Amino acid sequence: MDRRHLRDGAGFSERSYKKLQELARIAHSQLSAWTITHPGAHSWLIDMTAGDGQGIQKQQRALFGDDLADATPIMLAKLCRRPDAERLIVCEKSGERRHVLRERVLKLVPDTVVLRRNQDLLSYDFGDCDYALIVLDPCGHGSYEEHLKIIQHIRAQAIKTDAILTFNQRSWSRHMGLHLQGEHDNRRIAASRRAKQLYTWMPELNEWVSRLPGRYLARSRLTAQSAAFWFQFIVATDYLADRIRRQKGWEIFDRANPNRPGTATAAASALAG
Ligand SMILES: C[S@@+](CC[C@H](N)C(=O)[O-])C[C@H]1O[C@@H](n2cnc3c(N)ncnc32)[C@H](O)[C@@H]1O
Repeated sequence: MDRRHLRDGAGFSERSYKKLQELARIAHSQLSAWTITHPGAHSWLIDMTAGDGQGIQKQQRALFGDDLADATPIMLAKLCRRPDAERLIVCEKSGERRHVLRERVLKLVPDTVVLRRNQDLLSYDFGDCDYALIVLDPCGHGSYEEHLKIIQHIRAQAIKTDAILTFNQRSWSRHMGLHLQGEHDNRRIAASRRAKQLYTWMPELNEWVSRLPGRYLARSRLTAQSAAFWFQFIVATDYLADRIRRQKGWEIFDRANPNRPGTATAAASALAG
């Protein structure tokens, strides 16, 4: 098959089922960590960059059945059928994808709120929401600052937030590795050079700590899913699930214990202080 159709090499590949499966496990365990300690709370689920809801074929293990890893909005829709999750909001800016997405999520959760842009969350009435589990899985690395401000805004409504992010490390390192000087300078190169300055902070754990709310900031080790798609999960929360604490390779920063050896750097400690 033509590689353009596989999109193996962008933020999506035929092996993306691995990312989706692990993201689902993280979301399940974070929601449980919250609801176990807060029975009866009003808990909402939000997908800030939902896509069209199309799942990805897992590696073939059985001959029968629909062996798909759920795309994030469908994973959240299934989570929302638990009695402890009340409302689902999904955001997708592409009209075509949003149309398909709407059909898919409404079948599972008929009162899902489908928003055009995640910026619409800035004027959304969160009513009695006590807690929001937020998934952010954008294309590339260029839009985090904007998305993180929206998470901060939700938090500022006195809502506890759990944010689960994917960081597309390969897209970031490709951009950082661009040689953007020399005789072929033009407007596009100049714009790319300026943009490069905006993203240099991204490998630093401390920088995520300063931009995300919650007691804990946890980051998984780098997973090379395909040659061109390497990613990390970042979780910002007040209630860090045991699943993350026990899994090898996660760096965990705890604002309440910033000097714990092996996790916090001096700069992160300073931020917490
Ligand atoms: C990597 S895809 C999401 C894939 C999805 N998580 C899945 O499991 O299939 C990112 C999506 O976010 C959408 N998007 C980007 N910026 C957005 C914004 N500001 N508001 C809503 N959707 C946005 C893009 O159109 C794209 O469909």
